Amino acid sequence: MTKSRLTFSRRKILAGAGVAAGAMFVPTRFAIGQAAKVKIGLMLPYSGTYAALGNNITDAFKLRLKELGGTLGGRAVDFVQVDDESAPPKAKDNASKLIGKDKVDVLVGTVHSGVAEAMAQVAREEGTLTLCPNAGAASLTGKMCAPNIFRTSFSNWQPAFPCGAVMLKDGHKKAVVMSWNYPAGHEALGGFKQGFTAGGGTIVKEILLDFPKTEFQAHLTEIAALKPDAVFVFFAGGGALKFMQDYAAAGLQGKIALYGSGFLTDGVLKAAGASADGVKTTLHYADALDNPINKKFRAAFKAATTRDADVYAVQGYDTCSLLAIGMDAVKGDLKAKKALYTAMEKAAIDSPRGKFTLSKSHNPIQDIYLRLVKGGQETVLGVAHKALADPGTGCTMG
Ligand code: BEZ
Repeated sequence: MTKSRLTFSRRKILAGAGVAAGAMFVPTRFAIGQAAKVKIGLMLPYSGTYAALGNNITDAFKLRLKELGGTLGGRAVDFVQVDDESAPPKAKDNASKLIGKDKVDVLVGTVHSGVAEAMAQVAREEGTLTLCPNAGAASLTGKMCAPNIFRTSFSNWQPAFPCGAVMLKDGHKKAVVMSWNYPAGHEALGGFKQGFTAGGGTIVKEILLDFPKTEFQAHLTEIAALKPDAVFVFFAGGGALKFMQDYAAAGLQGKIALYGSGFLTDGVLKAAGASADGVKTTLHYADALDNPINKKFRAAFKAATTRDADVYAVQGYDTCSLLAIGMDAVKGDLKAKKALYTAMEKAAIDSPRGKFTLSKSHNPIQDIYLRLVKGGQETVLGVAHKALADPGTGCTMG
């Protein structure tokens, strides 16, 4: 992220066509017939350990919008961007301000599961169309599911569950699991444990750190003493990078096999260098996926940002695609909620990850890939689980 982006005020309004608009009332259609702009609130982390994730989601969303000619359902776009700081205590206020004060028509957010849960509560109460481009909190498409809430990413359970069977197949029977102590960590470890123990594996120890702490050293010493066959972790962003570096520095790399949800390596592979070598992960995306949409997307993202695309960029890109499908179906009329939601529910998204559809609770049904880092490259070993759907436990919709 550039310095200027970090230092702007926490709340900013950007016009898709480059013209700033205030928080005035705008009718859906001007008298002369020109469609009014649609205002999209981006509630994402632009600071802290998940800053790079928020930036890639934002830039890829805007890239897709540009590919679509800069309009959704015939309407140009204004953005209001808020740095949610991955801070759950600020989440309700941020979401309420975007909806109540900035009067956004659509909310796009966020990365951190704890923030997403509070945001979704506001979105449910207000009935604002909300698309989640990352946070995997089970409740969003579980007990808090709602007609106006859609997710284009994953549930935390989804990429972790298949890793249990993968580890067993590799011959590992005793595992230590480790993560941050917040919903994403609990749910990812829960998914892994479900798959691993069902197949006969044993969890030797579960280690949880407060988010976003990265003091891993004492825990790595304990893991070395426990001598499990393998370790499964959920970490992402800056914390994931630090974990792999510390794991290697502690002398565990190559001795105790390291597995994770693919967020462990995504977006930090280059920075991790040799410390990521040998890490095996499961995820709904891989850089090397051999399909034309992925190749075109990666080249376009690189050209637009000079950065390499990752799973977060894919999710931002697909969020714009899903919104475009809905808004095109109602020709930009967001008040036509039934038709809007039906079109989004029926969508088949041509994604860089491969085509995916949505479950009844509005969560992607998607392939989970098995990946291995070899010589600094993420290689795809195969599909760990075909067309995996989250159970959507507690959702009474559909
Ligand atoms: C989460 O909090 O849900 C999350 C954050 C980063 C990567 C994946 C999941």
